[in-house]
Amino acid sequence: MPTHTIPVIAIDGPTASGKGTVAHRVADKLGFHYLDSGALYRLTALMALRRGTDLADEHALAKLAEHLPCSFTGSSVILSHENVTDAIRAEEVGNTASKIATFPAVRHALTGLQLGFRKAPGLVADGRDMGSVIFPHAPLKVFLTASVDARADRRYKQLIDKGISANMEDLLMDLRARDERDTNRAIAPLIPAEGAHVLDTSSMTADQAVEEVLKWYAAVIK
Ligand code: C5P
Repeated sequence: MPTHTIPVIAIDGPTASGKGTVAHRVADKLGFHYLDSGALYRLTALMALRRGTDLADEHALAKLAEHLPCSFTGSSVILSHENVTDAIRAEEVGNTASKIATFPAVRHALTGLQLGFRKAPGLVADGRDMGSVIFPHAPLKVFLTASVDARADRRYKQLIDKGISANMEDLLMDLRARDERDTNRAIAPLIPAEGAHVLDTSSMTADQAVEEVLKWYAAVIK
């Protein structure tokens, strides 16, 4: 199967919109591969934090991104043989990821890695610019969103479930700051791609959102 004919479902949206869960389940239902592009930005951020890389040094950060020694096995994220699945989910890592993601050289360095996930029989790609930049010809593009309150609420529950203490005020502030940065950055801003189906999941369950995406996909391949 030539790569450009392998179907891609691009699922973009803001932090804590539920796109990770939805994208995962859609991939499972269709037997497709799954790309968590945010994890690549988080991995770069984690490496930079650990190495004490200057977070304003675009060139040094791009170098880290370009040679990211990472692999994905099942739901585990591995960095140089270390399981960092939980470590990359820390709020500090997410915030740093969102800062370094504003650098064009970092985004450019991660492009090839992301394109490499397009393998038969298909790919569900989750991120901010999957439909607008990385896979602009994806047959289905979805922009998943939810109100900032609904998203803070979900993030709060996720953290508490994991036994991590959380403060609602701080979470709301972080989400707003990250939305602001992701939406207003000059390169690959968080906006619905041309032709994207917009789905507001504020009052939907993950299963309902999955059903909607699968319905759209069935219509596309008909
Ligand atoms: O999706 P997740 O919260 O894991 O992503 C972490 C950060 O990485 C986001 O806040 C965003 O700034 C950045 N990101 C991006 N482009 C993507 C995926 C993530 O800029 N495709």
